[in-house]
Amino acid sequence: MTSTGVDAWRLADIPDQAGRTVIVTGTSVGGLGHHTALELARRGARVVLAGRSPAKLDETAETIDEEVPGAALERLEVDLADLGSVRRAAEAATAFGPVDVLVNNAGVMGTPRQVTADGLELQLATNHFGPFLLTGLLLPQLLASHDATVVTVSSGMHRAARSAPLGDPRVHHGRYSKWAAYSRSKLANLLFTYELDRRARAKELPLKALAAHPGFAGTHLAANGQYGRPSGGIATILDATVRAVSQSAARGAWPLLMAATADLPGSTYVGPNGLGELTGTPQVVTSTALSHDEAAQRRLWELSEETTGIRYP
Ligand SMILES: NC(=O)c1ccc[n+]([C@@H]2O[C@H](COP(=O)([O-])OP(=O)(O)OC[C@H]3O[C@@H](n4cnc5c(N)ncnc54)[C@H](OP(=O)(O)O)[C@@H]3O)[C@@H](O)[C@H]2O)c1
Repeated sequence: MTSTGVDAWRLADIPDQAGRTVIVTGTSVGGLGHHTALELARRGARVVLAGRSPAKLDETAETIDEEVPGAALERLEVDLADLGSVRRAAEAATAFGPVDVLVNNAGVMGTPRQVTADGLELQLATNHFGPFLLTGLLLPQLLASHDATVVTVSSGMHRAARSAPLGDPRVHHGRYSKWAAYSRSKLANLLFTYELDRRARAKELPLKALAAHPGFAGTHLAANGQYGRPSGGIATILDATVRAVSQSAARGAWPLLMAATADLPGSTYVGPNGLGELTGTPQVVTSTALSHDEAAQRRLWELSEETTGIRYP
């Protein structure tokens, strides 16, 4: 242990979550959201499983219930790539009352060029604009908990972003690089986190925003992004290859769990402590200078408000 006392973080460090409500997005079985939801349910939290497929929400709930009989699980249907769906989900989520923790985990990676119903590039829509709107619409419930934590899942890939996604998000000409689009969306996760946290502090709101990344974890992210499915033919081969060379999805969820439950200040970024932050035990990590560019944070915020139609207080 160092003086911070959090460098050797373990699952056993998750405090009792009884009486707390946590919303986790993207909880399909085998992904980071599933394992995050599982461990929080194990510690007694009421966990809202948020995802776009009712059948997958049921599958996750059944899987968690097998390990944690009687777990307090709720379901929230939301397609983060569809702003209308996010609005409907937030409306439905008012039934859950105060929300202690929101984990913005759902995401896509390396998808071919696609434009959503709202006219937005798919990766930035799913990974940033949807979560931006969801967080804003849930803000009253988060603040009602009097001690809210918002964790947004970024990636080591944010380091590859040469610039922030500050152009008109509805203009789609020029060359599309699916990896550049992913990197920028993961940079956006950090710009959003640091701006949200600074705004909350300036207004003395009872909310802190943190970010986390899992390193390289054996989930379905690559297969889902490349082939639109986690299994079947070549998707199965890619999925198995990723699992063979990465840490488990369960271990990949540890940084998310530390960010969601440890006594850390806002704007903290958590990731694995191993070589290249690819594997290991969670610790506080750093992000690029670009992610700390306050002008870029403010501009992305304004752009996100214009794009999603929400105005944060
Ligand atoms: N795995 C890694 O090594 C790694 C590394 C760095 C960062 N990350 C980040 O970790 C997060 C979780 O990814 P993962 O690795 O667990 O991948 P995953 O197994 O593919 O899980 C992604 C989750 O996001 C959901 N999702 C995708 N699009 C959605 C939408 N439009 N609306 C609602 N939910 C949607 C998926 O639901 P469906 O099942 O319905 O598609 C799934 O539950 C992502 O933000 C990713 O960028 C992962």
